[in-house]
Parts: sequence; C-alpha cells; structure tokens
Amino acid sequence: MHQDEQKALVANEAVHVLLKHETAFQILGIGTGSTVNFFIEALAPHAKSFKGVVSSSQASTERLLQKGFTVLDANNVVSLDVYIDGADEINPQGVMLKGGGGALTREKIVASMAKVFICICDSSKQVALLGQFPLPIEVIPLASQKVTQYLEKLGGVVRLRKSKTDASQNFVTDNAGWILDVSGLKITDPKALEMELNQIPGVICNGIFAQNKAQLLIVSSQHGVETIQF
Ligand code: A5P
Repeated sequence: MHQDEQKALVANEAVHVLLKHETAFQILGIGTGSTVNFFIEALAPHAKSFKGVVSSSQASTERLLQKGFTVLDANNVVSLDVYIDGADEINPQGVMLKGGGGALTREKIVASMAKVFICICDSSKQVALLGQFPLPIEVIPLASQKVTQYLEKLGGVVRLRKSKTDASQNFVTDNAGWILDVSGLKITDPKALEMELNQIPGVICNGIFAQNKAQLLIVSSQHGVETIQF
C-alpha cells in the first residue's frame, strides 16, 4: 500500500472515531501536515456537525476555511474536546517528535488546550527511541547562534532550516521564528530534555511532545489500521 493510501486510511478512521463521539467532541483542535490534510478532506462533509475548530497553522486554517469549517480563535476557546495531529516520530509511550512542517509551537499550544490528543500516522513514524528524525527547535532569530552553541555542547549536530522554495533564505515560521533541526541527540528521557530545551534563552518551543503526549494513536501499515491507547 502506498504511503498516501495509508495516510487516507488513518484519516478516515479518525473521522469515524470523531463521529462516534460526536456529542463529546464538539470543539476540535486540528494539526498540520500531509496526514492532517487527508483528515481535513475526510472530515469536510461533516464540517457543520462541529461547533468549531482551532487550527495550528496558517496552512491548516486556509484549508479548513475552504472546506467550510468554523475556525475559532484560540483566545476565545476555554478548552478543546480533542486535538488531532500527525507526528514525525512516536514512541511506545505516545511521546512524539513533531515540527517537520515547522508548526510545532502552535501545535503544542493547541494540543495543550485539548482533553485528548489523537495522533494519526503511518507505521514508519513508530520508533523505539526518539531522535532518528532531527529534532526541530523554533528560536527567536537573534538567538539562533547562541542556541546552536548550547545544542552542540549537548552533542547535537545543528542545521538552520532553509526555505523550501529559496535555499538562500531561512525558513520562517508563522510566528516569525527560525527552526534549528538537531540530529544526534540521545533522547532517552524526553520529558527532561523537553524541559531543559525550554530553558534556553531564545528558544520559543521544541518539538518534543512529552508533556502533551498522545492518548490515542491511529496507525496504518501494509496490514491495515490499528488503534493503540496509551
Ligand atoms: C508539522 O509541523 C508537524 O509537526 C507534523 O505534524 C508532522 O511533521 C507530521 O507531518 P506529516 O503528516 O506530513 O508526516
């Protein structure tokens, strides 16, 4: 089965889960990325069944508006019933690495507002130990050199992310931040590393989702779709 078919499979299953709990899941948080795009597409026919959605990126917001969803401002919402998003890696405890698409900060904010985090991905994202995927860290541009030095002392190999369309330009996030992609970190204690990285002056957010881990994983493979509760 092609990877896109696997993404469509988890997207459809996530829609099925949401519709099954429609009365409990009325205000949704929606993530960012190619798997979430499949999910938005699959949920679109039911857009008006929900009170509204809070989006984690400008890209998802545009898509959601196009599909007829009511997109709410996070500041006007007390809490979210559920947050649905993809991941770059997820471990057997439901802890994730995220931010491959650069939306990690808003994703973490919206995830923190939700009672339940449902992760949707294909099985290539399941890992025993986090860190094969370079860890994205969003920084204030002024601090990028200082933060790089700190990360190198931790044993990381740091790459400043470049724009996909113009390699001479840095990638700029929805929050006007830059992204450092860090390889070579041993993420044996994700919660401790997440907190340590948050302490570095100039770091806006890091892509370890340990404090906001998934409660439910909907994952697809060649063999079909599986749901795992953490
Ligand atoms: C966006 O910044 C990321 O956190 C995505 O959730 C993650 O990269 C998964 O994206 P895909 O579904 O495109 O693999």
